[in-house]
Amino acid sequence: MTETLLRSSGFSQSFSEKEVFFCPEESHFYSHCLERLVFNQCSNSDLVVEFGCGDGTPVINSLTRVSFDGRIHGYELNPSACQIAQSRIAHHDISHQYSVRNQSFFDTFQSDAQYLIANPPYIPAPDDNIAMPLLHGGVDGATITNRLLSLDYPNVMLLVSSYSNPVGTIAHALANNYSVADFMITPLKFGYYSSEPKVKNHISELRKSRKAFYSGNIYFLAGVLFKKRDVSDLNLSTELIRVMTSL
Ligand SMILES: C[S@@+](CC[C@H](N)C(=O)[O-])C[C@H]1O[C@@H](n2cnc3c(N)ncnc32)[C@H](O)[C@@H]1O
Repeated sequence: MTETLLRSSGFSQSFSEKEVFFCPEESHFYSHCLERLVFNQCSNSDLVVEFGCGDGTPVINSLTRVSFDGRIHGYELNPSACQIAQSRIAHHDISHQYSVRNQSFFDTFQSDAQYLIANPPYIPAPDDNIAMPLLHGGVDGATITNRLLSLDYPNVMLLVSSYSNPVGTIAHALANNYSVADFMITPLKFGYYSSEPKVKNHISELRKSRKAFYSGNIYFLAGVLFKKRDVSDLNLSTELIRVMTSL
């Protein structure tokens, strides 16, 4: 499947799911969240920074559907994913708008950015010895998500999973002076990365301490727009917790 995806944009090299993040359902959802919660809301003078661009398709696809003309600076630690993203950006001729660097997001800080966006690594596991170590989100899956909510960007749009301690993340956001300004939710099937037995067993342990919520093979993934409280009056955190813990 990965091979087909890459060929469609004119690339001959192929990568397995273990080398480059590949989950089209999730990436499409992230792309739609970007469109509705970020690019249709911000102004062309806004700078957007992205943690973990993957192969770049979510932002690229989203940009084709909106009139946003501002800049996005992306960071991707995986050199193969970064290489694909850079080729796609060149292929779509949007390098004036979207750039991707092969470095850790945490090695940089752009204080002039108004928005931080990410579909962050959220796989919960006792350690990072999993199919794709760069998707490890710490023991409860929320470590990187919570770190991104500690950087003080005024607006942060993140995907939050119902099996990665969503209540802890929302509490962390509130403690860091964010409110939940808006959200979108989709049900997803456990996929390639979350179905790995070591991960699935760990998630079922987290469920016992109400840090993971799912039903059979289905979990919820939310695109959440967090805004600093001085930027937004609306706080939908109670409603978000209610939905995310309902399975
Ligand atoms: C869940 S994937 C999302 C990829 C893409 N945004 C998408 O939705 O299709 C998370 C990405 O974050 C990258 N990543 C992990 N740690 C990182 C870091 N410290 N800095 C930048 N990227 C990182 C991973 O390599 C992976 O490509």
